[in-house]
Amino acid sequence: MSEPKIALVTGANKGIGYEIARGLGATGATVLIGARDAARGTAAAEKLAAEGITAVPVELDVTDPVSVSAAAARIGREFGRLDILVNNAGILLERGQAPSAVPVEMLERTFATNVFAVVAVTNALLPLIRRAPAGRIVNMSSGLGSLGITSDPQGPYAQFPLLAYNASKSALNAVTVSFANELRATPIRVNAADPGYCATDMNGHAGPRSPEQGAIAAIRLATLPPDGPTAGFFSEDGAEPW
Ligand SMILES: NC(=O)c1ccc[n+]([C@@H]2O[C@H](COP(=O)([O-])OP(=O)(O)OC[C@H]3O[C@@H](n4cnc5c(N)ncnc54)[C@H](OP(=O)(O)O)[C@@H]3O)[C@@H](O)[C@H]2O)c1
Repeated sequence: MSEPKIALVTGANKGIGYEIARGLGATGATVLIGARDAARGTAAAEKLAAEGITAVPVELDVTDPVSVSAAAARIGREFGRLDILVNNAGILLERGQAPSAVPVEMLERTFATNVFAVVAVTNALLPLIRRAPAGRIVNMSSGLGSLGITSDPQGPYAQFPLLAYNASKSALNAVTVSFANELRATPIRVNAADPGYCATDMNGHAGPRSPEQGAIAAIRLATLPPDGPTAGFFSEDGAEPW
């Protein structure tokens, strides 16, 4: 039997991240439950362990450089490599204001978590991902980051005026392609996932899909075969327009 894969999911204590961890755990992977609040991470890992999943809480605030390097050092010490990184942690700060009413400070805070932290976490863990036989990096994007979708006035998302959030997910898509291009000659595959509109704390549980459904695309990208795509953007139904 091959060794279990080691998978880290950021923001895995609840919502879609929790379901991604659950799905990856069900494939036999050891899942590292990234959570900025240690107690919430431990509670989530215990719930998963009760289902027979090997889940280890890892304290990780993705916006805190000290926390990021401590988590990377701990994973290196305890596991020696990382097969799967799912950059799932994300925030949405807008509360219905028009794009022209969004303060720049809100963009800065949104980008700090949704974009800059993804770069920092990926860079901190890349040496461990390179040690895995076939690393997989999945960035949790959104259909709201798709310029193709949001620029269509008839499209499903034209009515969401989320300047900071949407721009952060478009930027995350660009980050995804940059890493994929750098790593193209390696076995590492880097892709962005669109979970669809799912009922979570982020949107007051307004989305029509379940967090479990939202996890499907990311789980698939995290477990791609060797000939799987890289530099792509996928929902559960296939390729998404950028
Ligand atoms: N729900 C949707 O319809 C939808 C659609 C498209 C994309 N997405 C994306 O999917 C991802 C998960 O969202 P969700 O809907 O599951 O939202 P959620 O229920 O609000 O969960 C967000 C997770 O991110 C964590 N987080 C936020 N900032 C963090 C930080 N600085 N360090 C570590 N963890 C942090 C949260 O931790 P705490 O519990 O400590 O706050 C929580 O675990 C996000 O990237 C989101 O943008 C969601």
